[in-house]
Amino acid sequence: MLRTHTCGELTISNINQEVTLCGWVQKNRKLGGMLFVDLRDRYGITQLVFNSELNAELCQTAEHFGREWVIQAKGVVAERYNKNKNIPTGDIEIFVNEVAVLNKSEIPPFTIEDESDGGDELRMKYRYLDLRRNPVKNNIIFRHQLGIEVRNYMNSIGFLEIETPFLIKSTPEGARDFIVPSRMNQGEFYALPQSPQTFKQLLMISGYDRYFQIVRCFRDEDLRADRQPEFTQIDCEMSFVEQNDILQTFEGLVKHIFRKVKDIEIEEIPRMTFEEAMRLYGCDKPDIRFDMQFVELNEQLKHRDFSVFNNAELVVGIVAKGCAQYTRKQLDALTDFVKRPQVGAGGLVYLLCQEEGTFKSSVDKFYDQNDLKSVAAKCGAEAGDLILIMSGEKDKVRKQLCELRLEMGKQLGLRKAGVYKPLWVVDFPLLEWDEETQRYYAKHHPFTSPKPEQIPLLDTDPGAVNANAYDLVINGSEIGGGSIRIYNKELQQKMFSVLGFSAEEAQHQFGFLMNAFQYGCPPHGGIAFGFDRMCSILCDSESIRDFIAFPKNNSGRDTMLDAPSTVAETQLKELGIKN
Ligand code: AMO
Repeated sequence: MLRTHTCGELTISNINQEVTLCGWVQKNRKLGGMLFVDLRDRYGITQLVFNSELNAELCQTAEHFGREWVIQAKGVVAERYNKNKNIPTGDIEIFVNEVAVLNKSEIPPFTIEDESDGGDELRMKYRYLDLRRNPVKNNIIFRHQLGIEVRNYMNSIGFLEIETPFLIKSTPEGARDFIVPSRMNQGEFYALPQSPQTFKQLLMISGYDRYFQIVRCFRDEDLRADRQPEFTQIDCEMSFVEQNDILQTFEGLVKHIFRKVKDIEIEEIPRMTFEEAMRLYGCDKPDIRFDMQFVELNEQLKHRDFSVFNNAELVVGIVAKGCAQYTRKQLDALTDFVKRPQVGAGGLVYLLCQEEGTFKSSVDKFYDQNDLKSVAAKCGAEAGDLILIMSGEKDKVRKQLCELRLEMGKQLGLRKAGVYKPLWVVDFPLLEWDEETQRYYAKHHPFTSPKPEQIPLLDTDPGAVNANAYDLVINGSEIGGGSIRIYNKELQQKMFSVLGFSAEEAQHQFGFLMNAFQYGCPPHGGIAFGFDRMCSILCDSESIRDFIAFPKNNSGRDTMLDAPSTVAETQLKELGIKN
């Protein structure tokens, strides 16, 4: 090897040893007759010293090293006079007696420091340089460790990691497929998997009763901070289980992960039904690091002359503890917040529970002190609290108040970094009605089983059917989702028909699965966790990009490769896409 040690490992115990290090020049600085060079690699930084009195030529060579040059230095480990307590190698330095330039470097377009001067775009274009920076490097190492811990745990409880193909037939998961033309079968296309869903179900039929895979998935959907067109799942499936078995098994995984990579003991993960989550938090992925649950106020507020509330399907509020001293300006800012197009509310009503036991509200014209008192009582609000109330169509107003709740949580410092509150949301509806296309869509995916006792409702009131489908939510982010599956052909056919597939279409697209169901399919279910999302949540980061070595930007572009790109006409002809 070209080196005897890394730049992160030498300490006082190595004094007087002859060593050879390789790395990148972080910086060099001259101090009288001495030249100091910080040499960096993945493991750390070690200070090299060149003494012009002892070796003027060597010192002169080193003086010309530019930032990010790759060098090899041979020398003797010495105790440092000026120790640097901030780095593990801060007690020593290397008195260099031989040096070689392994490669020069252009001046990097941004500084390779923890706080870089490079903007997002520039750092993406030169991602290989960005990856040298500590914060990015630490994220990549964290991801590696998380993967190792997942594999250790899954292996310890008998799961087999089995790879499934990437060139497959389209499976609907709610997003668009990326398709790949086939040269050998012109006019036909593969799809890249949105998940290995059907394969893992087939593996259950094959008898591999505990499967998992850390696997890349591809979805052509609009991108956000927590979405990438290609992302990674910890995909899992088990046979002979019911919902509770799956939740318990994977609660074990979640606890193991927290213990190993965060040194945190997670208590039993609470469970909440979808219906409760919507009613109490206005969304199916509540951040339960803080309470501030919704209180429905129809009874208290729909009996006076205030038409806004009277015409609303739902009047609902939250209590911001100790915020009664909010100024008019602060309250106006909250109103502006909910009126932003992203939230889209018509307005906001506030009620201040004053210290002297009286109430002041933005609707004093319509409600007397007794009315307001009854609202405060229903909300469990005390003197000093602020009640924020919104109204409208049920689903819409819940969504809007959910935004306001999260904003208040943020403003009040209740969404604390370093605090993790996982939650199982269970009993999701099986279907979701889409107004635009006037049809039902599978809320999770079409392979999810209705709750057995509700199967008859599929004929009479499909919208009312629930599923044994569940999500793992951590701090308001959906980290995983899964369900108990259909494992019989007739029920699967029925499900496709409810989803508007003709029998022929269903057979054409999913015949392989339904046929397989006829050869001894065990009852089964599973879950998939977003691996990138898990990394980012565990590290309190907003964006999953920080944990992907080579991510795409929000337009799905890789600006470093400049992909996607056009291809040669001959290539298109070969694929039969162009004549
Ligand atoms: P689902 O579609 O809920 O379930 O996906 C599982 C988890 O994958 C993560 N995820 C994403 N992460 C980053 N970028 C994306 N574009 C993206 N889309 C999803 C989320 C999500 O919770 N086959 C089923 C699982 C099952 O039923 O077992 C599935 O894929 O964290």
